[in-house]
Amino acid sequence: MKILVTGGAGFIGSHTVVELMAEGHEVAVVDSLVNSSALVIPRLEAITGKAVPFYKADIRDKESMEKIFEAERPDAVIHFAGLKAVGESVRLPLEYYENNIGGTIKLLEVMRKAGCKNIIFSSSATVYGDPAIIPITEECPKGTCTNPYGWTKSMLEQILSDIQFADPEWNVVLLRYFNPIGAHESGTIGENPSGIPNNLMPYITQVAVGRRDVLHIFGNDYDTPDGTGVRDYIHVVDLARGHVAALKKMEPGSGLSIYNLGTGIGYSVLDIVHSFEEATGVKVPYVIDERRPGDVAVCYSSADKAHRELGWKAEYDITRMCRDSWRWQSMNPNGYGDEDMG
Ligand code: NAD
Ligand code: UFG
Repeated sequence: MKILVTGGAGFIGSHTVVELMAEGHEVAVVDSLVNSSALVIPRLEAITGKAVPFYKADIRDKESMEKIFEAERPDAVIHFAGLKAVGESVRLPLEYYENNIGGTIKLLEVMRKAGCKNIIFSSSATVYGDPAIIPITEECPKGTCTNPYGWTKSMLEQILSDIQFADPEWNVVLLRYFNPIGAHESGTIGENPSGIPNNLMPYITQVAVGRRDVLHIFGNDYDTPDGTGVRDYIHVVDLARGHVAALKKMEPGSGLSIYNLGTGIGYSVLDIVHSFEEATGVKVPYVIDERRPGDVAVCYSSADKAHRELGWKAEYDITRMCRDSWRWQSMNPNGYGDEDMG
């Protein structure tokens, strides 16, 4: 199939491009580069040994998007493009709603006009809010999000569901990601946050590589075995393969489907610090700080539905995730090296 990957220069999108091409799909990438580097594209070409058609465009720019659809005629869209910084979304809600929701609506209009009605959407475990059941199944009711970023995901799920309901020609897959970490085994592509990382693993690797002094652990008084927050960390390559599996199941009339993409295993912050140290031999000094507003104590998936229906399950363990995160960071101490390092 020919797949248009929006946000394909970003962390998850770039790894998905590799896995799609490994399965024989044709790919074209659209990205505004608002949170990524053009240097990803030659690295993707080196990994895959093939050209990766790339359009620097904003999904909100309908004219450009229409031209791209005319040129590429994709069978399906995998839609990663969006802003994702939780704290920033609290400060800039309008920008987040406009980019993520406004951008997706424009993309959907262009898709409909082009007759391309197959979409896989990057949703998030954040839609469950403080989860009502653990492990979280897809039947778990959606919860109250604690920030505008989370609401963009929750609202876009609703918008996509409504569009599919109104026109059954649409096939929509909502993938709810848990916590992607790790990197491609080549160490040439990976997560490249600008400024101070919000997420745990990039913070750990930046401490390990000497860019930051110490990890701040946000609270050790949660109701968890060691008091620190528990999450479901998943290797980004496994996550990427989840998209390929979802695509394989997409066919006329498949309608709306929702899958968690996680491992089903919860690790605490201290588990991750210790696993990282054991896997890499590098020490990660830390201090315990206050809880971070909006964090939940425990969040991990039941990954059964994706296994049952898509035949997909995560393969890589926490040691592999830590090693691959570290390989990427140590080979690229300043990320792609072409932006403000914060
Ligand atoms: P990322 O920031 O690395 O990738 C997103 C890409 O989208 C970036 O390359 C950015 O430049 C691009 N982009 C943003 N707005 C755009 C626009 N208007 N037009 C064109 N391109 C635009 O983030 P990621 O971690 O790869 O996340 C991919 C998707 O998965 C996002 O939608 C994110 O919200 C979602 N998600 C991520 C996580 C996570 O922990 N990383 C968890 C759940 C969901
Ligand atoms: N943490 C620290 N110190 C840090 C960063 C994080 O102690 O410097 C802790 C957090 O308190 C939490 C855990 O590490 O207990 C994981 O935090 P992350 O920020 O890495 O991940 P979150 O689970 O908070 O959020 C992530 C994405 C969201 C997404 C959500 C889905 O950032 O976009 O997963 O579950 F919505």
